[in-house]
Amino acid sequence: MTVNIPHIDVHLDEDASAGDLRAEVAGGLTSAPRRLSSMWLYDARGSALFEEITRLPDYYPTRAERAALQGAATDIAEIVVADTLIELGSGAAEKTRLLLDAMGKQGALRRFVPFDVSTTALRESASEIAADYPELEVHGIVGDFTRHLDTLPEGDRRLIAFLGGTIGNLLPAERAAFLTEARSVLRPGEWLLLGTDLVKSTETLIAAYDDPQGVTAEFNRNVLRVLNRELDADFDLRLFDHVAHWDSVREWIEMRLRASAPSTVRIGALDLTIDFAAGEEIRTEVSAKFRPDGVTAELRAAGFQLHRQWTDPAGRFAVSLAEAE
Ligand code: SAH
Ligand code: AVI
Repeated sequence: MTVNIPHIDVHLDEDASAGDLRAEVAGGLTSAPRRLSSMWLYDARGSALFEEITRLPDYYPTRAERAALQGAATDIAEIVVADTLIELGSGAAEKTRLLLDAMGKQGALRRFVPFDVSTTALRESASEIAADYPELEVHGIVGDFTRHLDTLPEGDRRLIAFLGGTIGNLLPAERAAFLTEARSVLRPGEWLLLGTDLVKSTETLIAAYDDPQGVTAEFNRNVLRVLNRELDADFDLRLFDHVAHWDSVREWIEMRLRASAPSTVRIGALDLTIDFAAGEEIRTEVSAKFRPDGVTAELRAAGFQLHRQWTDPAGRFAVSLAEAE
């Protein structure tokens, strides 16, 4: 029996990543308000904690998106007739199997391209999918989807899937730039499948981002472990509380870390000392929630024509299939 071994390209070398992290932390932690990009949440531990979040009773987005995909996968496969499925921010690529199964049945699919900044998550999921889909060529890419979309492989007809609501972790200007770049790497007639979490009651949203088990808090604080390890910093994690804040004007959740007491942090690799007053916060993630018409308009502005939109039966999460014009 031959074993299906994935091919992996790495577009993020360690030096460049370390340089990006240094620049980002030097800028973000000294700005007002202090902020960090959510990309740094996903080292091996962060990726594992995110997987744990997806199984929490209050974190509805994963289950809702899976329900939407269960209803949509066959139609998607028949509409796109794609030979290549690219998945950005693929993580464990668990819901993706619904697409792989439907596209496999349809018959045109030859290749799966998971793409993620987290090397461990990427290698693990690429190997698992290759083992479970022996006929599929699996070509993984370790990269940053805000910078490396030009490294995506060619195909006869490609579908780019961007699931999980991860597009909501980009700020509005970054989102527009991302969609424009995604459109520019596709040819007319190729496809984008976009998962977006939808606006809903504040209670439901806050519960999803502030679970009683404390897993999201652990995920949030993990970014400080990353800084301690990568930048020789000395954050005391016990002094930073997890905060989930709903911004009803911008319609996004912000994850923040709030200093519970005055604290002085030394970041050795940057030769930087930061004083945190009690109550001072760092924004570590935004997670935008969308309205179906808003998604259509953002796709339109980037040169995509919405073909069809599905939600789960409870209307919590949308998946939008759009064609590059
Ligand atoms: N798609 C999966 C995982 C979502 S978690 C799901 O729906 O469950 C977000 C994923 O995006 C993580 O695996 C994280 O490592 C990845 N990610 C975050 N920022 C990224 C970036 N800038 N470039 C590439 N991957 C990124
Ligand atoms: C990956 N992303 C869509 C998740 C979200 O819901 O914004 C990350 C997350 N943050 C806190 N919980 C989960």
